[in-house]
Amino acid sequence: MFFDPRDVGMKPEPFKHSVYTALVLPRPIGWISTVSVNGIVNLAPFSFFNSISGEPPCVMFCPNGFKAGTDEPKDSLVNAEATGEFVFNMCTYDLRHEMNATSKHVPESIDEMAEAGLEAADCINVKPPRVQSSPIALECKYLQTIHLPSNKANITNNMVIGEVVGIHISSTMVVDGKVDVRKIKPLARLGYLDYASIEPVNIFPIDRPE
Ligand SMILES: Cc1cc2nc3c(=O)[nH]c(=O)nc-3n(C[C@H](O)[C@H](O)[C@H](O)COP(=O)(O)O)c2cc1C
Repeated sequence: MFFDPRDVGMKPEPFKHSVYTALVLPRPIGWISTVSVNGIVNLAPFSFFNSISGEPPCVMFCPNGFKAGTDEPKDSLVNAEATGEFVFNMCTYDLRHEMNATSKHVPESIDEMAEAGLEAADCINVKPPRVQSSPIALECKYLQTIHLPSNKANITNNMVIGEVVGIHISSTMVVDGKVDVRKIKPLARLGYLDYASIEPVNIFPIDRPE
C-alpha cells in the first residue's frame, strides 16, 4: 500500500482512524512542566517529543494547534516562550493516569500538577517545578521555536527546542553504575489511544560496528 497524505489525508481505505500516529512508534512522552508569567504551574504530555542532541543535551516538544475549543495557543508553548524555561518529566507506567489527566484542557489559572494530585519538587536552575514522583527530570532553558507547516488555516504547529541545564535522577533507579530501565518502566505512546510499558523481557544490547 502507498498513499500520498497530501492527496488523500491520513484516513484512506481501509483505515477507520487517522493512521499517522501508529506509523512512528513507540514514541517517548515529554511530560512538560512550565510556569506562566503569573507563576501558575502547567503540566501537559507531548508525544511529539524527543532528545535531539547530546553535547550539549537538547530536547524538543511540539505544542501543536490550539487549546481544545479555543483559538489560543497551548499553555506549554506560551509559558516556555514567555519565561524561557521548561522541564521534561519522565512519565512511567505508574504515573500513566496522572499523565493522562494532565492532557485535559484547563484554564491557565489552574495549577495542573496539583489538580492531578501530584507533588511538585523544586528545580535548581529553572523556575518550573518537576514532578516529585517522576524518577527523571531534565531542567531546560528555551532555545527557539521552529514553526512547522500546517494544513489548517490559523492553526500553528510548533517545535520548541531547549537545552538541558539540570538533570535529576532518582538514586533508586541507578543499579551498578547504570540507569536501570527495568525499574523506571517508562511509558511509550503507540498509535490511537494505546500505550506500552517498557518491561524487562525484551531488553538486549547490540554492539556498534567497528
Ligand atoms: C499521551 C499524549 C500525548 C500528547 N502529545 C501531544 C503532542 O505531541 N502535541 C500536542 O500539541 N498535544 C499533545 N497532546 C495533547 C496535549 O497534552 C493537550 O492539548 C494539553 O491540554 C496541552 O496542555 P497545555 O495547554 O497546558 O499546554 C497529547 C496528549 C496525550 C495524552
